[in-house]
Amino acid sequence: MTSVRALGLPQHSPAVEDVELPARVTIWEVGARDGLQNESTVIGVDVKREFLRRLAAAGLTVLEATSFVSPRWVPQLADAAELLADLPRPPGVRHPVLVPNERGLDRAVEAGVRDIAIFASATESFARRNLNRGMDEQYAMFEPVVRRAREAGMRVRGYLSMCFGDPWEGPADPASVAAAGRRLLDLGCEELSLGDTIGVATPGQVQALLRSLAANGVSTGQIAVHFHDTYGQALSNTYTALRAGVSTVDSSAGGLGGCPFAKSATGNLATEDLVWMLDGLGIEHGVDLDALVHTSVWMAEHLGRPSASRVVNALGGGA
Ligand code: HMG
Ligand code: MG
Repeated sequence: MTSVRALGLPQHSPAVEDVELPARVTIWEVGARDGLQNESTVIGVDVKREFLRRLAAAGLTVLEATSFVSPRWVPQLADAAELLADLPRPPGVRHPVLVPNERGLDRAVEAGVRDIAIFASATESFARRNLNRGMDEQYAMFEPVVRRAREAGMRVRGYLSMCFGDPWEGPADPASVAAAGRRLLDLGCEELSLGDTIGVATPGQVQALLRSLAANGVSTGQIAVHFHDTYGQALSNTYTALRAGVSTVDSSAGGLGGCPFAKSATGNLATEDLVWMLDGLGIEHGVDLDALVHTSVWMAEHLGRPSASRVVNALGGGA
């Protein structure tokens, strides 16, 4: 394996001096959840736990661990309670989980969770496929979850999927997406993660949505971005969001990921690719890239296929 330290790359050369980029980015690592929810290979609970341990050891501090969803809908994550029971919890590391409804919240609370994310859809078609609910019904399902979680002092993130278009309804209208995002924050979510679930967005669309959100009173400090890399646009979209002031970015170690309810959703932005760009821009993130690449090479061996990340393949010898 090639060491990034030995290469002395990427060079810190912030290419853009006309805008202020954030000094530090929080990486919200979704590999163990968004990555593994879509795998046909059965990954044992011990391997998942070790994956999370290694990600934390590589310096990642927000590790989305699993989902308390219906095990019939997502059998890959049916072991959520077992996973969390013996999960090492290093100080300063968060392990948020996805929760769709009160049943999921009850299970999460029982497992000792203090940090959850609800996940809404910006389109009717995906709401029905992913949640078995219409747009309005999804808010009714989330309302008691967010209220109870906040009353209990828990942290609550709101995901909004299909923010730039979906496979059934085509391109999304930024004004309606922004209104849906506003609604999640009004429910009590502290942070809004904008999902390009099928990876179709390009930078102009990202700019347009961020402007619509600003017009709805949503600040960039409340926003995270969640890009999938289906069409190779995830990094340019992320860069666009950073230039607009966003400083929380979702990504997945090794580029694992997808959504079982949207066939055209492929891998997430790879955390290694993100880290390479942040290093080049001189933006702090706290991650040891070599340790992370080692982890993704190790996980690729468990999955029996190479990582989708360009950086993992360049540094990890294409494992
Ligand atoms: P439903 O079938 O309408 O639910 O599913 P229901 O309330 O009618 O219940 C049916 C059965 O499921 C009942 O069991 C419930 O107890 C059980 P039965 O009585 O028949 O034996 N059940 C549960 N069991 C355990 N935990 C629960 C739970 N809820 C119900 N929480 C539901 C509705 C929302 C539950 C279902 O549609 C579901 O689980 N959906 C999850 C889909 C999912 O996880 N998708 C992937 C995550 S979203 C994503 O990846 C996008 C994101 O990454 C951002 C982006 O990329 O855009 C976040
Ligand atoms: Mg996703």
